[in-house]
Parts: sequence; structure tokens; C-alpha cells
Amino acid sequence: MRLDKYLSDMGCGTRSEIKKNIRAGRVSVGVKTIRDAGFSVQSGDVIRYLGEIVRYENFSYYMMNKPQGVISASEDRKMKTVIDLIDEEHRRKDLFPVGRLDRDTEGLLLITNDGQLAHRLLSPKKHVDKQYFAEVRGRVTEEDTQRFAEGVTIDGEYTCLPAELEILESGEISCVSVIIREGKFHQIKKMFEALGKEVLFLKRLRMGSLVLDPALSPGEYRRLTEEEIKAL
Ligand code: URA
Repeated sequence: MRLDKYLSDMGCGTRSEIKKNIRAGRVSVGVKTIRDAGFSVQSGDVIRYLGEIVRYENFSYYMMNKPQGVISASEDRKMKTVIDLIDEEHRRKDLFPVGRLDRDTEGLLLITNDGQLAHRLLSPKKHVDKQYFAEVRGRVTEEDTQRFAEGVTIDGEYTCLPAELEILESGEISCVSVIIREGKFHQIKKMFEALGKEVLFLKRLRMGSLVLDPALSPGEYRRLTEEEIKAL
């Protein structure tokens, strides 16, 4: 692989910044300073960029607490995306969010460049469960819990898989936990709509084994730990 591509894949900066630093003698391979951006890097080479060793990682995995107001996409002409929230030093070009949360939904979003893992997590056949916290206008009742367990029909035609609805607080505005095993467009909002209720706030807390780190404020992210990656 070319030296500049290696450094760019590892999120060291833009291709032009990297080339500038290579030309300026700020990059070494082994003990030699390399000034040619096209230099061919071999596996086992120790590469230093601005004095720091840069190891090659095939895959990167981040958990983000997605804030409201940004979209779950890799790029967009007009709107801010979750990838725009990744610092330049981590922002490799092939990162994408695994699945979508609505623009006004907060919470757990996995961001990676591992297409196979994403495919497994999103495959409708795998039924990976996703847990959400929601605030809902209207009094949520045990009857609603029953309807969720039986499978709510949305858009007047699709019957959702059984879902778990737990009432945390019932009142004019109710707080609930919902677990679904599929990911239809606006699914939770539509499920409540089918019951005559409106979702006012929605936050994803868990996806399969991956639990949102409570230390992350909206807009923050961190690398997954080795254990979290293994569990996924
Ligand atoms: N269900 C929704 O309605 N919106 C989301 O963002 C996720 C699940």
C-alpha cells in the first residue's frame, strides 16, 4: 500500500496534509525518513507520523451517543451527519453508521468500516434486539403492552414482530422502555401512532450486546473495547 494511503486510512489527516508532512521529512518507515508519498509500505514496517507510531487497523469501531439534529448518514450536501462529528484524526473515509436513527432520535449508534459486521447486525433474519427509552404523550397502559406483545400493525398493512413494552411511568406523558427486533422506518413512532399516541422523545440504549456508555454525552463517541467487539 502507498504510504500516503496508509496514513490517510488511519485518519492521520487529509491526503494533502499528509503529503505535505511526508515531503517535509516528518514521516519515517523503520529508521529511514521517507519523502515519497507513493513509497510502498510492507506489513511489519514501523511507520511514524509526526514522531508517533501509526499502527494499521483494518477495522475501526466507535460507539456514539448520537445527538438530535444530525442525520445517520456518511455524507450529506446540506445537513450535518454523524460522521462529521468524528474528529479528523479518527475520520477515515470508509466509516459509516450501522443502521439509522431518525434525525430527532438520540442514543447508541455504532460507527465502523466493517461491512460484514454491519450486515449481520442489520440483517432482518438475525432479529438483533434494540432497546429504546421513550417519552410518549398519553397514558400508556397494560393494554398497550399487550398490543406490542401481539404485534402492532403499522401503515395499515405491516404487522410488526412482537415487541416488549415496559411502562416506567404512566401519566399525561409516559416513560417507557421498548425492545424491538427489527428496524422499519420510524418503527417505534409508528407503533405508538397505531395506538393513538405520540412519541415525544426517543433514545436508543442498546443494540444486541452493545450498551450505550452512560459517560457519553450527546455528540460524544469512543472506541469500542476489545470485549465489546468480541461480543458483537
Ligand atoms: N424507531 C423510530 O421511530 N425512530 C428511530 O430513530 C428508531 C426507531
